This record gives sequence, C-alpha cells and structure tokens, in this order.
Amino acid sequence: MITAFYQFHPLFGERDKNLQMIRAGTKKREFDLLVLPELCTTGYALAPEERDLLSEPIPDGPTTSFFLRYSREKKITIVWGMAERDGDRFFNSAVLVHNGFFLGKYRKIHLFLDEKDLFSPGDLPLTVWDVDGIRIGVMICFDWAFPEAARTLAFRGAQVIAHPANLVLPLCQKAMPVRALENRIFTVTANRTGKEHGLRFTGKSLICGPDGKILSRARKSNSFGSAEIDPAQASDKKVTPRNSVFEDRRPSFYL
Ligand code: ACM
Repeated sequence: MITAFYQFHPLFGERDKNLQMIRAGTKKREFDLLVLPELCTTGYALAPEERDLLSEPIPDGPTTSFFLRYSREKKITIVWGMAERDGDRFFNSAVLVHNGFFLGKYRKIHLFLDEKDLFSPGDLPLTVWDVDGIRIGVMICFDWAFPEAARTLAFRGAQVIAHPANLVLPLCQKAMPVRALENRIFTVTANRTGKEHGLRFTGKSLICGPDGKILSRARKSNSFGSAEIDPAQASDKKVTPRNSVFEDRRPSFYL
C-alpha cells in the first residue's frame, strides 16, 4: 500500500480554502492512505470565540462531508485533524474515513500548552481500525511524547499509526523513528508549516518504518510525501532472532 502525508500552511479560519488547498495538493497523486495535519481546516491558535465558530460536529459537519466525498472519489483512506464540537464540549479530534464511509474518530488525550484552555481532554480509547485488512491506529501530535500512546496502539494491533500534528518543537521528528522502531510499526506524521500568533510550526513531516528508517521526509513548506509499505512487516516484532519487543517485555519491573 502507499501511505502519504500532505504538509501545508493552513489559512487561519478559512475552512473552504484549506479544503481546496488539500484537494489541489493531492488529487493528482497516487496513494491509499493520506494523513493530514492536526486542526488542518481551521488553523491552530484559536481564540475561544473562533473555536466556537469554527468547530463542527463529527461526522455531521461540512468538513467530514467533504472528506467522505473525496475519499469515495479517489477510493482512499484519509485521516485528518479538526476542531470538534459535541454539545457544549470541544475536542481536538482526528477522523478516519475510507472510500466514502465514516470509520471513526479519536479525541486527543494529551493536550499541549494553551489547548488546555480550549479543548476537553479526549474521552475515547486509543483505537485501531481494520481498513481492508490493514490495521490503522490514530494519535495526535503531542501524544508522541507519551510512549504509552503508540505502545497501546501497537498492542491493539496497529500496523500503521496515522499521526496528524501541529508541531512547534523540533523534537517529535527525532522521536517518531524511535516510536516506530520500539513498536516495530509504520508511522505517518503529517505536520504543518507557517506561523500563527507567534507560534512557528516545524514542518519536516515524516513516514517511518519498523526498523526506524525514515521512508519519506518533507523538505519544503508545502510537501506531499509518500512511501510504499508492506504493513505485514509490522507483525514481526523481532529486533534480533532471539529478541521480540513484545515477548521480551518484563512488565513486573515497570511502573
Ligand atoms: C501539539 O500537540 N500541537 C504540539
């Protein structure tokens, strides 16, 4: 299968323009799974009134409808980040659609800095979806700093982690090859670029393999990156013929 990210600089508050930018940047490309950045239709540094105005219910909102149509048209899977409204609560969420079907959503559990003033912490489990036999787990941005998140997805059978991000520190790009290696899985991190309210986003989106190799890396601001992978490789948890990162664990020594 071909996994891909599309890294770009979303226009703040301009949902429809951002959706068109995503479409224009990906429609001629070939891929099976597309991962887009966190909060990719609204921008990141929302004031509370902007959050109220720009958040949408999932799946019953225009953004999910757009991606349902686009995934059907291209016969693909898409994972993207967006601001979710659920009654009077707001979440920093990611959504998974496949070939015109809504498969589910994840709500970020580790909120970063001022996100704590805008969003409720996620209340849904770290989930792995079976998509035509390929097991895709989802986490969002700062979840990278908690190895338990990727580990939990790997234990739940993830072969690929789709990871929408809006990174402002340059650290996650160093950590993701390790998250992939320590779990023997593939990871696709889609970051954004540009500046908003004094925050500069660090780009360098990347796809990693179960041996920790970087299979694709964004080199410029607007970047499509892809890598052909064999998800079955993620079933082999061995790092040497006698060492498995799952079977050799010693949980009685851990916290
Ligand atoms: C982040 O979690 N957006 C850094």
